[in-house]
Amino acid sequence: MQVKLYNEKLYLFEKSTGMTGVFSNKEKEMLVEYAKDGVKTPFIDRLYHLGILTKAFHPNEVIKALEKEQDYLRLDALHIDITTACPLTCPQCYKGDTNVLEMSLKVFQSYIDEAQKLKIFQIAIGGGEPLVHPQIVDFVEYISKTEMSATMTTSGYGLSQELLDKLIKAGLNHMQISLNSIVQLVNEKSRDGFHHAVHAIQILRRTDLSFGINMVIRKDNLDTFLETVEYAKRMGAENINLLRYKPSPAEVYKDYALSSDEFYQLAEWIKQVKGIKVKVDSAYSNLLIYLNNGRVNKERSGCMAGKSFIAIHADGSFKPCSHIKMKERANSIYEYYTEGKFIQSLKNKVYHVERLCYTCGYIDVCGGCMAIYEALFKDAKSGTIECPIYK
Ligand SMILES: C[S@@+](CC[C@H](N)C(=O)[O-])C[C@H]1O[C@@H](n2cnc3c(N)ncnc32)[C@H](O)[C@@H]1O
Repeated sequence: MQVKLYNEKLYLFEKSTGMTGVFSNKEKEMLVEYAKDGVKTPFIDRLYHLGILTKAFHPNEVIKALEKEQDYLRLDALHIDITTACPLTCPQCYKGDTNVLEMSLKVFQSYIDEAQKLKIFQIAIGGGEPLVHPQIVDFVEYISKTEMSATMTTSGYGLSQELLDKLIKAGLNHMQISLNSIVQLVNEKSRDGFHHAVHAIQILRRTDLSFGINMVIRKDNLDTFLETVEYAKRMGAENINLLRYKPSPAEVYKDYALSSDEFYQLAEWIKQVKGIKVKVDSAYSNLLIYLNNGRVNKERSGCMAGKSFIAIHADGSFKPCSHIKMKERANSIYEYYTEGKFIQSLKNKVYHVERLCYTCGYIDVCGGCMAIYEALFKDAKSGTIECPIYK
C-alpha cells in the first residue's frame, strides 16, 4: 500500500487491486479513527469492498503520513514506451516513429527508482510493442519489487503461454489487450494482428491475471461495440476501456471520428452494458460528463495529461501524454513535472484548454483533448466548440 498527501488530501493506493482512494478531511478523520481503534464502520467496510483497503493495510503508515504532512506530487502514473519497435502496421496508429529505439534496463530502472521516491502509483508499460522488447520480463520484475503496480498495453503479438507465465511470475498486475472489434473484418479497418489479440485473450482467460480490452471508438467499429463488449464479458475481461480516436498520420481524422449522433448512440449503448466495467479514457471527458449528466468529480475528470500522468518516450524525452507531439528533455521526472515548459504552461491554470472550450459550461470538469487540438489546429490549447456536449 502507498500513502501520500497532496493538496491536503490523503491518497491511498493498493497495487494488488489497482485501487486508489482520495480522502477529504472528514474521511481522513474516519480512516485515522479506524487506524487507531480497528473498529469497522460502514465507511471502512466500503473501502474494503472496493479494494482500497486490503489485508495489506498498515494503519501506522496513514498516521505517519499525516504526521509528516509532506506534500507529494499529484502525479499518479507514468506511461513508459519501452520500445518504438512494433511488428504491426495498424492504419489508425498515431505513433509515426520511424527509428527503432529500445530503452535499456538500466535507464528504465532509474525511472522506476525515482518514481517510487515520488510515490507514483502505477507504471504503464507501452510502446511500440512492449512484448517484443527482449528484457520485458526483467522490466516487470523490477517494478514488482516496489509498491507500484505494473500494467501493460499490448497487441498480444508474441504472447505465448510460456511468456505469460513468466510475466505473471515476475509480478505483472494487469494487461490491456488492444482489439477494436471482435468482428475481424471490422477490426482490420483500423488494426493489424486480430489473431494475436484473440489468442492473447484466450490464454489470459485461463489465468488469474486481471486483463481488459482497449477499444478505440471510431465510425467503422461503432456498430460492433455491443458485440465486442459481450465477447469481453464471455472471456472474463475485467474492463473494456474506450479510447477516444485521435488523429493519425495515415488517416483523415474526420472520416473516422464520431459525429454527434454517433456519440449519443455510443452513450446509449454504454448505458445498456451490464456485467463488465466500461472505462473511458481521460481524453473522453465529454463522454463521461454526458453519461453522468454533468455530475463528475472535478478532481478525477477531464484531461489528466500532465497532471496525474505523464509519458516517457523510448528516447528518454518527456510528454504530458503519449499522443501529444511536444517532446521535452529533462534530467529527471521531477524536473520535467515541476519545470517542463509545457507542464508549466498548464500550471496555475484551472483549465488545460483555453479559448473555444473556455466558453463551454462544462469547462470546469472537462478538458477536451489537447492531442486532437494540437494535430488539427496546431495549438494544443485551442479547444473547440464542435463538441457534442458544448454548452
Ligand atoms: C500505440 S499502442 C502501443 C501498444 C501496443 N502496440 C498495442 O497495440 O496495444 C497503445 C494503444 O493506443 C491505441 N491507439 C493507436 N492509435 C490510436 C489512435 N489514433 N487514437 C487512439 N488510440 C490509438 C491502440 O489501439 C492501443 O490500445
